[in-house]
Amino acid sequence: MSQEIIKIFDTTLRDGEQSPGASMNTEEKIQIAVQLERLGVDIIEAGFAAASPGDFDAISKIAQRVSNSTVCSLARAIDSDVKAAGEAIEQAKMKRIHTFIATSSIHMEHKLKMTPDEVIRRAVRAVEYARTFVEDVEFSCEDAGRSDMVFLKEITDAVIEAGAGTINLPDTVGFRLPQEIGAMVKEMSDYTKGRAIISVHNHNDLGLAVANSLESISSGARQVECTINGLGERAGNAALEEIVMALKVRSDVFGGFETNINTKEIYPSSRLIANITGIEPQPNKAIVGKNAFAHESGIHQDGVLKNKTTYEIIRPEDIGLDMEDTLVLGKHSGRAAFKDKLSKLGFTLEEVELNNAFDRFKELADKKKEIYDDDIRALVTSQMANVPKAYELVSLQLMDCSNGVPSAAVTIRHKSEEFTDAGIGDGTIDAVFKTIDRISGYQGTLMEYKVKSVSKGKDALANVTVKVNFNDDEPAIIGHGLSLDTMLASARAYIGALNSYLSMEGMLKIRDVDSSDTI
Ligand code: KIV
Ligand code: ZN
Repeated sequence: MSQEIIKIFDTTLRDGEQSPGASMNTEEKIQIAVQLERLGVDIIEAGFAAASPGDFDAISKIAQRVSNSTVCSLARAIDSDVKAAGEAIEQAKMKRIHTFIATSSIHMEHKLKMTPDEVIRRAVRAVEYARTFVEDVEFSCEDAGRSDMVFLKEITDAVIEAGAGTINLPDTVGFRLPQEIGAMVKEMSDYTKGRAIISVHNHNDLGLAVANSLESISSGARQVECTINGLGERAGNAALEEIVMALKVRSDVFGGFETNINTKEIYPSSRLIANITGIEPQPNKAIVGKNAFAHESGIHQDGVLKNKTTYEIIRPEDIGLDMEDTLVLGKHSGRAAFKDKLSKLGFTLEEVELNNAFDRFKELADKKKEIYDDDIRALVTSQMANVPKAYELVSLQLMDCSNGVPSAAVTIRHKSEEFTDAGIGDGTIDAVFKTIDRISGYQGTLMEYKVKSVSKGKDALANVTVKVNFNDDEPAIIGHGLSLDTMLASARAYIGALNSYLSMEGMLKIRDVDSSDTI
């Protein structure tokens, strides 16, 4: 039987980044894009070029780096957005502009304050203009899930005529049930009769995003928009790993369809995104949650020991998860073994990066007896996510946190000069961060602080994620720090956020837009 390909459109870097607390710097976005390419996604929505110079920069760097996936930028249906999108993806081997405007009467009336005719004119203009930059244009009817079918057909005809090859029908507010989405998709795909690919983009407000996406595929959609770990605005988007694995595991139902995803890259992709954003999937999250393959009850354990298929419908190795939690290397391991391990974990490093990673691994192996895959992943991820280091932590000394006043002495290197200061605080973290503020002259407000042990054992690496606001008018910045010592990891994370902020300064300003243009 010939198989139809379901295109996987990943929007982790755009809608996923709209998750509260998930903003990423350019280096991190490039790393994610490279992993998405390895995973085999057909289209990477790399961002929203007109949102800020930082977004533009990240998209254009991704466009230069990725060659096996189409690189796409989002654009509102306004000329300046479409132009920014076209310019940002210019150097991509395969490129797409994704433009959109709302089509539900609620949005047209209250948000856009436009008549349906005006909306159609704007949509047509955006698609025509986008076609002057690229051949591959996607048009989204924002809030399609609550739009009138007659109007959806009218605007779809108009944008197809203008040159759109993909029509996306988002359930923007996650309101629809599977049978309703299925009916809408069926009607629209029967109506368009192959003139365009029908795509869906389901939000998870009622926990139905994946079910809605699967029902859409059965009803005629040939592209699904999704994110790793289900990240996304509010309750998130449909999770890529769940859609892909449902299609694979239930091939008895979805036998006519396949994707280009290499499922063995699912787990590494999930870990990369969790490490970078600091947002861990819930433990019981399907496919990639920490407990997804853990059998707790005695009856289940007994069954699995006798035959795995008693309670396991997915083999962990199919998503690239090594259940042995492999003890990888020790302090006597050589460079060749380390390089081999990196390539098994999906990292291809340049010579300089490899040497750097190997030095850090040796340093760690000197202090920590057992090093696991997750340690190596965290080590390499934290190194690759580095931004130019305006400030570097040289030393940290902490004093009395039980009886006296918590205090910290910090030495930081800036432009080859070392600066030392000491300060007190309400707690040790407070003392450390305030002292860093005093030395650097930047006042950060700590919005979020998270610490996670990377692997098991009392000597596990601490991975600290902070979210810091250095300027009230700009988004908070994420920083990560890794160390065997939690306080050292915290100081590194805070300085990392400051370095990210400085490298993005001037790129953060979101352009003034008419409120009717907001998404
Ligand atoms: O949810 C939504 O409608 C979107 C569109 C911009 C595609 O994210
Ligand atoms: Zn969305």
